[in-house]
Amino acid sequence: MTPTPSIDRRTVVRQLFLGTALTLFGGGLRSQSVLASESPGNAMEGLLTLSPADFPVLLNPGGSLLLTVGLPYPIVLSRASADVFYAVSSECQHSGCVVGAYNPTLGLIRCSCHGSTYQIDGTLAGGPAERSLPRYPTSFDAQGRIQVRLPATYGFRTISLESIVGDTRRLSLVFNPTLGSTYSVQFRSDLNGPAQLIPFATTPAGSANQTSYTNNNFANPTQAVTLYVDQTTSRGFYQIVCIPAQY
Ligand code: FES
Repeated sequence: MTPTPSIDRRTVVRQLFLGTALTLFGGGLRSQSVLASESPGNAMEGLLTLSPADFPVLLNPGGSLLLTVGLPYPIVLSRASADVFYAVSSECQHSGCVVGAYNPTLGLIRCSCHGSTYQIDGTLAGGPAERSLPRYPTSFDAQGRIQVRLPATYGFRTISLESIVGDTRRLSLVFNPTLGSTYSVQFRSDLNGPAQLIPFATTPAGSANQTSYTNNNFANPTQAVTLYVDQTTSRGFYQIVCIPAQY
């Protein structure tokens, strides 16, 4: 993997919090992607950090996309002006359909189910919905990074720096498994790039030489599992691929 540092190295070394992105594949394969980010001020929330350069649609005002981040609904991330971004839930407040991205031609976010519309900041513009879209605090920092504060909910995990040995930073990756499911860890340097299988350890000091983990903890099947990966870049997405148990 080629290092692509865009986050201050010292900050990353101090602590990492990882956002998660949830993807559903056909055939039941489920993955959770984890974005390396800085530490948020509140341990119960996550800070999603990304660069517009990685998402060209966000390079210009009016640009917008849906981003899966581990919440039950994707977020609609939109650029309103040079330095103002909005992140809102895509859960339509009428009956729960996923709204589209902000449409600069319409000047609105629209739900195709029954036509509810919202402003770029999520404010309700037209029914039948009666409420605005939930909004997540978003900022654009001096380094040109978009930062979105997200609640720690389903699929959203934190990762902490476990140890530093020489140039190797070991991260502990925590997730809640399901009984009988098998997991592997993948990495990709950007959301749209190819994923690469990476080895992990199951103990803090163990060798990172395992490529799959099966949850056979019958006594406590949903107990959180920690896998340890050796970080080789300061930025990227860790992805846990789950092959669900067959019953
Ligand atoms: S679910 Fe969006 S308008 Fe009805």
